[in-house]
Amino acid sequence: MNHRRAFLKQISAIAGMAGVSSIVDTDRTFAADVDLIERRGSVRNFRYKDRYMVDPAVTYFNHGSIGTVPRTVHEAHIAYLRLMETNPWFYMWSGEWDEPREIVRAKVATLLSCQISEVAITHNTTEGFNVLAAGLPLGVGDEVLFSSINHPGASVCWEHHGATRGYSVKRFDFPWDRVMEMTTDELLGRYEEQITPRTRVLVVPHVDNTVGLRHPMSELARMAKSNGVEFVAVDGAQTLGMLDIEVGDSGVDFFSASPHKWLQAPKGLGVLYLSNDVQQHLSPMWVTWGQARWPDSARRFEDYGTRNLAELLTLGNAIDFQVAIGQETKDAHYASLRNRFMQEVAGSNEFTWRSPTDSGLSASLYALEVNGMRANAFATQMFREHGFVMRAFATDQLNTVRISPNVANTEEDIARFMGATAQVLG
Ligand SMILES: Cc1ncc(COP(=O)(O)O)c(C=O)c1O
Repeated sequence: MNHRRAFLKQISAIAGMAGVSSIVDTDRTFAADVDLIERRGSVRNFRYKDRYMVDPAVTYFNHGSIGTVPRTVHEAHIAYLRLMETNPWFYMWSGEWDEPREIVRAKVATLLSCQISEVAITHNTTEGFNVLAAGLPLGVGDEVLFSSINHPGASVCWEHHGATRGYSVKRFDFPWDRVMEMTTDELLGRYEEQITPRTRVLVVPHVDNTVGLRHPMSELARMAKSNGVEFVAVDGAQTLGMLDIEVGDSGVDFFSASPHKWLQAPKGLGVLYLSNDVQQHLSPMWVTWGQARWPDSARRFEDYGTRNLAELLTLGNAIDFQVAIGQETKDAHYASLRNRFMQEVAGSNEFTWRSPTDSGLSASLYALEVNGMRANAFATQMFREHGFVMRAFATDQLNTVRISPNVANTEEDIARFMGATAQVLG
């Protein structure tokens, strides 16, 4: 089945929605998006930096922590907030923004290649995992499996509910030193050898937040299910807006993501895919009035009541912006930045590459081991003296800085980064 076509059909089925734009579509926003579309494919000559509000003294390499928001998306956000304050009751409760909210849900469904009924709008990735860990019917004798590459936002909730409800949580040590040579077969094998007859849930990141190892979703889901695992849950915090995501046909049951990173949407908004099947097993974490309206929809797992509608509607503008750039353009740009970083690292004594080298397992997020200095101290000095923003990881196994650039970054940023590094480490 051609999912994308099916989803477009779903969207146009909502009254008057074919080819819809978001309700706040100021002249400037519109002109900027048209401009983006016309220039699609030529990131190099494109003044992306003008489209963001980042301090000119800052070079932002940290979309893995939190994203930058394009100026036009921010303007749309402010416009929704202003509109809300002209008559709060009207926009929150009269139903005026019900259809716009559903248009955003449809856009998310298109982005994820799933059905509209499988999308809940949450606050972040962590909330999605809490919905799952609180709501799945697990008990004594059951096991949830993940590795140390998992982020706490996708792990702690299982430990909490496992302790109170009697199911066990198995967290195995991920071999960080194997990441550079990792192949898909090895990755699948590392998880497969940990599965036991008790394993009911497997949790994996789509791309982890430390070294940027891309987990092939469909292959993992196939392997897990053939070994008797019932539910496969994917942490998409790092991939929504970064990679093309086709979750609907992947065999994955659950995908939770944070649009405030790579999708460059306002902070504090989440996206949750719950397959129609997993919904049948799940009891809602939030319980309030109105949820009975949605017996066959992921909508009943959202936090109803007074909510962040201005941010939710801005998510539609953020998706429009990313779609206007185009996935192919982003893929090509991210690959060229990554290749340039790999070349620089290969020719330097200051860094060692600690991320996958297989491009199929790679992402626009990578780790450079800092030679001769604690990574935390290096990152602090690079920020204070040269304006580079990145995340440091100083653990027993890693002494790295994480680079997570976006479309506004250029190869010139990388050249300046290497120049600044020579000064700090020299
Ligand atoms: C892989 C991964 N999972 C989960 C999270 C938690 O995200 P949030 O705080 O938006 O829930 C993060 C945040 O950095 C992350 O990188």
